[in-house]
Amino acid sequence: MRAILVAPPAKGARLGDAPTPTLGPGQVRVRTLECGICGTDRDIASGLYGQTPPGRADLVLGHENLGRVLETGSGVVDFAAGDLVVATVRRGCGRCRFCRANRSDFCETGEFTERGIRGRDGYLADEYVEEPEYLVRVPKRLRSVAVLLEPLSVVEKAVEQGQALLARLKAPAGPAPPPPAALIAGTGAIGILAAFRLRLAGFEVTAIDRHGDDTPAGRLLATIGAHHVNAASGLDALGPAKFELIVEASGSASLDFDLLQRLGPNGALVLTGIPSADRPPFLVAGGGLLRDVVLENQALVGSVNANRTYFALGLRHLAQFRRRWGEAVGGVVTERRPLEEFAAVLTAPTTGAMKSVLVVHPE
Ligand code: BGC
Repeated sequence: MRAILVAPPAKGARLGDAPTPTLGPGQVRVRTLECGICGTDRDIASGLYGQTPPGRADLVLGHENLGRVLETGSGVVDFAAGDLVVATVRRGCGRCRFCRANRSDFCETGEFTERGIRGRDGYLADEYVEEPEYLVRVPKRLRSVAVLLEPLSVVEKAVEQGQALLARLKAPAGPAPPPPAALIAGTGAIGILAAFRLRLAGFEVTAIDRHGDDTPAGRLLATIGAHHVNAASGLDALGPAKFELIVEASGSASLDFDLLQRLGPNGALVLTGIPSADRPPFLVAGGGLLRDVVLENQALVGSVNANRTYFALGLRHLAQFRRRWGEAVGGVVTERRPLEEFAAVLTAPTTGAMKSVLVVHPE
């Protein structure tokens, strides 16, 4: 079958031939319809991240997926041919208490694998085979946006983490406070989906990037009533504003430290971008930053991956985004290209683009 193959730490990706996986009892064979491409895929194709399966020279890329069930192995009762499905990414270590409880996104041993990323083939191929427990059925009416479910699951977990930190305050009784203010750093798909999610949760949302308002991302933010600020020359563009919740989705380590200064009293900063570990070290005014964290009861948390629960939550919210803003969420997909054009999509995204999707099987 056709597959996009990578071999990190070697640079590059190629459209090659991979063996069609065999279907075992209790398994499901899925035809890949489309796959989104994110910074992680671009890092893997640049040789900066990722790991081939043990004993193998290459890895099938792709983790943001949507597919259609082709056939089921004996004993499968929850899925049938024709179902639309999205598969989760991480497979647990099988040893730690979190992996044993289907919460491999909190794996303690670090011995997990991730499809298309770390030690296990991904979905950018004609077909894949999977166990039902890692598949989420998608209603037909969400077909056009379901490829966003994996990145949305990551947002769902990150927002839940942030909200749990805010909830630790156990707000005192009294008149309802004004809507809480959230800042989102980065307007790629994760940042924009976080804006949708936080608007739905009643936050006043401001999102920053390094572009003017007239980009697909800027226009989409306006549609959902979020503010956009061009912070190309720094966070001063925000004026004196401080925020209760900050969701970072840029992967810039120096920005992470700057964002701490924008956190209001009792606020929470959730980091989702994965900074590069081999950039040159830089100086930060650590004393002042951490002093404020203590004196203002602030919290900083990292959030990675998402288990099945968050995919289910994401499906609910995709439907709610539709009810509230019509087809706007579909605009997060800024381009769909045939699989053969993988190389163009794996290079840097264009200004204001949010999500590039490779179509494996049009239907
Ligand atoms: C994926 C996550 C994964 C993370 C780290 C992200 O791009 O969406 O599922 O855990 O990369 O590998």
